[in-house]
Amino acid sequence: MYRNRTCGELRLAHVGQSVTLAGWVQKARRMGGMTFVDLRDRYGITQLVFNAEHVSGELAEQAQELGREYVIQVTGQVSERSNKNPNLATGDIEIEVQEMRLLNVSETPPFTIEDDTDGGDDLRMKFRYLDLRRSAVRANLELRHKFALETRRYLDGQGFLEVETPVLIKSTPEGARDFVVPSRMNAGQFYALPQSPQTFKQLLMVSGFDRYFQIVKCFRDEDLRADRQPEFTQIDCEMSFVEQEDVLTLFEGMTQHLFKTLKGIDIPLPLPRMSYADAMRLYGSDKPDTRFGMTFVEVKDLLQGHGFSVFDSAEYIGGICAKGAASYTRKQLDALTDFVKRPQIGASGLVYARVEADGTVKSSVDKFYSQDTLKALAEAMQAKPGDLILIMSGSDADKTRKQLSELRLEMGSQLGLRQSNVYSCLWVVDFPLLEWDEETQRFYAMHHPFTSPKPEDIALLDTDPARVRANAYDMVINGVEVGGGSIRIHDSSLQARMFEVLGFTAEKAQQQFGFLLNAFKYGAPPHGGIAYGLDRFVSLFAELDSIRDCIAFPKNNAGRDVMIDAPSIIDQEQLDELHLSLRPLSK
Ligand code: AMO
Repeated sequence: MYRNRTCGELRLAHVGQSVTLAGWVQKARRMGGMTFVDLRDRYGITQLVFNAEHVSGELAEQAQELGREYVIQVTGQVSERSNKNPNLATGDIEIEVQEMRLLNVSETPPFTIEDDTDGGDDLRMKFRYLDLRRSAVRANLELRHKFALETRRYLDGQGFLEVETPVLIKSTPEGARDFVVPSRMNAGQFYALPQSPQTFKQLLMVSGFDRYFQIVKCFRDEDLRADRQPEFTQIDCEMSFVEQEDVLTLFEGMTQHLFKTLKGIDIPLPLPRMSYADAMRLYGSDKPDTRFGMTFVEVKDLLQGHGFSVFDSAEYIGGICAKGAASYTRKQLDALTDFVKRPQIGASGLVYARVEADGTVKSSVDKFYSQDTLKALAEAMQAKPGDLILIMSGSDADKTRKQLSELRLEMGSQLGLRQSNVYSCLWVVDFPLLEWDEETQRFYAMHHPFTSPKPEDIALLDTDPARVRANAYDMVINGVEVGGGSIRIHDSSLQARMFEVLGFTAEKAQQQFGFLLNAFKYGAPPHGGIAYGLDRFVSLFAELDSIRDCIAFPKNNAGRDVMIDAPSIIDQEQLDELHLSLRPLSK
């Protein structure tokens, strides 16, 4: 027996008991004739004391030689600490060690394995197995485990069956690039890894499974960001004989269940809903952070035609009102201007107006506007004395709204309105079915090609496709798209029409999705579903900045696993077997 207790469980009630613990030496320090050791395992840290007066000389010496991350087993008595540590769950007690067995030695780790580590990101990723010894990282994975468990509990309770779908498949159209796998047995042919199990879950509905879910890895070769990994996990769900309303109700129920069981937070239902059009108009984003207001006000009518050429030539002029921010200094305002001018945002500038204590409005464009106009502006913005108005303009309304959206989020952060332990959930609904791409001069499916148009908009497919709305919905929490789904097309002729609008020839559609179109000929039920990004959802619960922190072995921003050094080159022999030859890499 290596242990009968863990390092996280002993309290005053255990004083006097003889216990055996096993774990890692977090740190060891000598004080006079005593050696104190912090012993760590998954469950916590317990202080050990080796008292030279009570233990053999040999044991006292062994204790002094313990290095960081040595693995030991100790037996001793639980005793009350004279010098209690309120920051440690076991801080009231310590173990007076009587016996010790060295189970393994360790090289000095490349960084300190403590909450406040001295290891930089790259180093910690290279030695991720050591990083995972840190309690903060482990806590995220524990939460992830519970999250998956509660998800399964809820969905099982609602009659969902978890069904596994294959990983070696054919391209799925989620809008990213595929990762592909060459086939040894089928020379010159490739599998694609699923961007999602979308087509399979629809086939399971044709098979009559009625309610499917799967906690499943998905793979997308796209540019990475804090909330994107090339392989990530979805809670993928599909239901038959449902309308949009049924899906929204069931899955806001799941969200409520997860918040209640994992965070102890009551989320009132139904969740608020916002149309895509309103989200874009008021927040400049299809994933609005609704923890705070600061919604956009269009002020083109008010500000155009006063001789300020930037505004006079603009297609869109909109502003936000930052409550209580009139005290922003010139330096802070310049920094905001620099912020919107960053290449990632790409705005040309920013106009501001402060409402003074006496109600007068002072702006950066005072010479073009009378006090009356500026006061009318303040009124339109519902700005009160002490508030700061920030205005942006541009020739492309959508683009300008997106820029203003970045500014709004930045102001929200600066004013402390985006606390990570405050949650605001909503559904964004009525997405457009299609998105026009200037570069390729064609429509793309905004969600995916299986998404159903709203029945009342189907006729517009022939006349004005851009105006067709979809039965598609996203769940948004704190400005993060945690999940998205839609009601699907279940009629093969409408599906064929959709492929046509998307520029697929009948042959191409048949070649790529023939299996689905054929399946639809055999009595496909009306169906719909949703997929949540598990990593994103858990990160919100764990209040993390990046989803990497809730993934045991994540990839870096270049899509590399620096620990195992992947991707990497393969042998010529392996290439030959796969019927592949490589072109010389261009520099
Ligand atoms: P969608 O493409 O919106 O829908 O994906 C669903 C959810 O998955 C998460 N997500 C990601 N998380 C981390 N890294 C990524 N690279 C990444 N990409 C997506 C997001 C997103 O909301 N088959 C459809 C769902 C359906 O229609 O039922 C789909 O995959 O949280």
